[in-house]
Amino acid sequence: MVDHEIWKSIVLQEFELPNGMVASSRIMRAATWMSQAEEQGRCGNTILETYSKIRAGVVVTGFQYVMQEGQAIRRMISNSKPADVAGLKRLAAAIHSSGALAAAQLVHCGSKSQPRLTGKDVAFGPSDMEEPQHKGEAVQVKAMTVDHVEKVTQAYADAAKRAVEAGFDLIEIHGAHHYGLWQFFDPTYNKRPVNDPYTGSTIEGRSKAMVDAVRAVKNAVDTPIQVKVDSSSKTVRPEEVGALTKKLAEAGAYCVIFSGPNAIQNPKDAGEAYFLDDAMAIRPTAYDSGLLFGLAGGIRSPETVVKLLTGNGDSEAAFDVIQLSRPLISEPALLHRWTEEAKTGRQEPARCISCNRCFGAGFKGKVRCVQFEG
Ligand SMILES: Cc1cc2nc3c(=O)[nH]c(=O)nc-3n(C[C@H](O)[C@H](O)[C@H](O)COP(=O)(O)O)c2cc1C
Repeated sequence: MVDHEIWKSIVLQEFELPNGMVASSRIMRAATWMSQAEEQGRCGNTILETYSKIRAGVVVTGFQYVMQEGQAIRRMISNSKPADVAGLKRLAAAIHSSGALAAAQLVHCGSKSQPRLTGKDVAFGPSDMEEPQHKGEAVQVKAMTVDHVEKVTQAYADAAKRAVEAGFDLIEIHGAHHYGLWQFFDPTYNKRPVNDPYTGSTIEGRSKAMVDAVRAVKNAVDTPIQVKVDSSSKTVRPEEVGALTKKLAEAGAYCVIFSGPNAIQNPKDAGEAYFLDDAMAIRPTAYDSGLLFGLAGGIRSPETVVKLLTGNGDSEAAFDVIQLSRPLISEPALLHRWTEEAKTGRQEPARCISCNRCFGAGFKGKVRCVQFEG
């Protein structure tokens, strides 16, 4: 149980963004694919209704593909063409209707893009490879040419312009979960030769695609940019992610959110806030970056929220924001509940049991809390 005054002063503390905009809380709704976009990635009434119910300081949308060839999964939101602006405008308005700021998460899914959705023969990533699928099948992945990577970089900038035109307040660049930009950073995926500007042999080369995307967005729009990155990976060391985050800061990002490759674990097995140790191993290598830091993954109780936002008494260990996904699929107004309960002296943790059936439901219909909604 967290004391009401502490809850108000820590969690409901106004969170000021670099452009002076203010979020009403330091809890963000993490980017969550809801499998609710309509034909050609359009935002229709179903997705608008879902987003209008979410209570958070900032609501980050599910990943929006910046090019059709970068779509990985059915019913993702499209932000790849001028005609998408009308639906995105309604989406931003739905998010604003609850008082939240609206962030658009932008992605090119790289080798994880699905030819059956994109209409291409292959997926495009840093290197030629096969991307394993279910049932022993594989998608052929073709290495992007330098020209192709530059087109993708430009697509991020164009998508950010559309998002801002539509009324979004922030941009979140998806640099995590082994999608396109992370793949360039991860030498498991990036086998590009030493003479390639995006080479997998140097930190400079590995960072370039993500850093260029941030810089291109920064040059295109006057909007705060946050980047979600993986905090742990078998093939990437913490100090390498630290070096990356410093470059992201130099390119114009104000905040980095730490996630990890296996994003949807169960806190019962992995512990609450299961990327905390990995994130804390990175942070000292990026303290002088001037970045704000956020954490996602397995945060379930009000006590943990406050511990993370205060560093449990150590301000150097404090996070500036935290992100929740599955708990807000199950209880979109969880922040409101926790705030009301703080007044009564009895705060219950999120009801989400991290069964991940919400994710599976997205492949059959739409993402929803199967445990409590059936
Ligand atoms: C149904 C579902 C869809 C998700 N979609 C996205 C997404 O579009 N972009 C993203 O960065 N992460 C996505 N995630 C991962 C979440 O943002 C978050 O990092 C992860 O679920 C851990 O947080 P949690 O324990 O609060 O759920 C998704 C997770 C779920 C369960």
